[in-house]
Amino acid sequence: MLQQFWHNIRRTKRDFSQEEGHVLQRVLGVRDLTMLGIAAIIGGGIFSSVGQACASGGPGVIFLFILCAIACGFSAMCYAEFSSRIPVAGSAYTYAYASFGELFAWIIGWALLMEYSIGNIYVAFSWSGYFVHLMENLGVQMPAWITTDYTSCSAAAKLTSPDLLSRDLLAWNNAPVFFGLRIILDLPALLINLLITWLVFTGVRESRNASNIMVAIKLIVIVLVIGVGFFHIDSVNLKPFMPEGFGGVMAGVSAVFFTFIGFDAVSTMAEETKVPQRNLPRGMFYSLLVCTVLYILISLVLTGMMPYKMLGVDDPLASVLKFKGIVWLEYLVSISAVVAMASVLLVFQMGQPRIWMSMSRDGLLPKKFSDIHPKYKTPAFSTVITGLVVGIPILFTDEKFVLDFTSIGTLFAFVLVCGGVLLLPKKEKLGDAFHLPFVSPVYFPMVMVLLQLLVFTFSPDYFHKQFEPPEALIYWTGMTVLGMLSVLQNWNLIPILGLATCCYLLTGMSANNWFWFFVWFGIGLLVYFAYGYKKSKLARG
Ligand code: ALA
Repeated sequence: MLQQFWHNIRRTKRDFSQEEGHVLQRVLGVRDLTMLGIAAIIGGGIFSSVGQACASGGPGVIFLFILCAIACGFSAMCYAEFSSRIPVAGSAYTYAYASFGELFAWIIGWALLMEYSIGNIYVAFSWSGYFVHLMENLGVQMPAWITTDYTSCSAAAKLTSPDLLSRDLLAWNNAPVFFGLRIILDLPALLINLLITWLVFTGVRESRNASNIMVAIKLIVIVLVIGVGFFHIDSVNLKPFMPEGFGGVMAGVSAVFFTFIGFDAVSTMAEETKVPQRNLPRGMFYSLLVCTVLYILISLVLTGMMPYKMLGVDDPLASVLKFKGIVWLEYLVSISAVVAMASVLLVFQMGQPRIWMSMSRDGLLPKKFSDIHPKYKTPAFSTVITGLVVGIPILFTDEKFVLDFTSIGTLFAFVLVCGGVLLLPKKEKLGDAFHLPFVSPVYFPMVMVLLQLLVFTFSPDYFHKQFEPPEALIYWTGMTVLGMLSVLQNWNLIPILGLATCCYLLTGMSANNWFWFFVWFGIGLLVYFAYGYKKSKLARG
């Protein structure tokens, strides 16, 4: 009976090689995909959230960038392995379907909603911040109550010693009141969401062209900040390199991990890609590589130009340049931040409907979600719903909450993707399709010991003062079990290391993050059992 139940839950019989009705246009090559990857990766993170990470970790935050890049690199290899075997839109959702079955696919699809849609809420907020800053520089002053969110304003008003000059308090005090309710909303965030939704609705070719231009602009400006900033580094700011130890560095995990989110969005474009088995992995790796190098350099420049404690602001790049009196570049950064973040919004807004389209094809969502627009050839209904899913919460949430929520959801999705690769049967290398090389799992314990020695050498306090139970206990127990299983089963070391690094980053999440994550998870399960479990293609045979 238990076996029957498990079988019903898994329901893995779908054949992905027989995808019916391919109707999207194959127009994307490696260069487009790399540009799309960079478009999704460089955005609100490096222009905004990274300030908080630098303020808690100091220059040593570059180690967290390296750690997150490693976690993403291993996960990218697993994504690449999957996408070369299953070149179908839907990203990790489709891969989870193939390896774990329907329920787990639903869970991952639900987690991806956090990555793409909730992530876009954060980016829309950051976009609005830079946009308002830019308008002010141009002499256009917008009322505070239409440029910020309600939650932050009400929190600012409740502080016992509030900052009287803060925009949030200003908004709270000056907002019009209707029937006792203060009208406070982030109008620029809502409008940019509307504009991007329209752009995505009208077609991938147009979106691609817009995206390529935006990527070029932000790359030029970031390289410029690195180049100019390099000559303004004050070596005093770089000592000590880890002023708050490795624990301080790890406090920025959500903010830093967020900067990397997006490389996997490339894999949602499988059905619009030429030769996806070869081009998708390349697009992912190239974009990840370019961004990692830029991030490490820019975080060194930021923490080298200004004392790290002063970096905890919403617009760290612009603030650093202002601090050093480099006004011409400050303006340029504000303009490019607006452009950069618009490109992130664009890619994520393109990715989400394609995941829903796959879920709908499997019967886990109503059929309407996979409708293709007759003229624009885009998943029209899903695109509109995405616009609403991003737009409505802009009225009710704040930046901090959505940042943590997005990072935990994405890490969770990466854990499932790395775990999924372990369950795939071995395959021969075919043509120039991506092939995950096999590395023996016996190296796993050695890698773990080596990493501990490294941390112990550079931050001796970390293990007994900063990495504490229950996180430490759960992590080490999990890794010991994983190590033993991988040797017994002869699992590939690469996904194992992906699991180990992603799980480690998850230990940096707070209890509050986990609480909301499980609430979200529970709602997802309820929706699945109320709809998908009965209506899915596999349920109907
Ligand atoms: N990595 C993306 C950004 O920083 C989500 O905006």
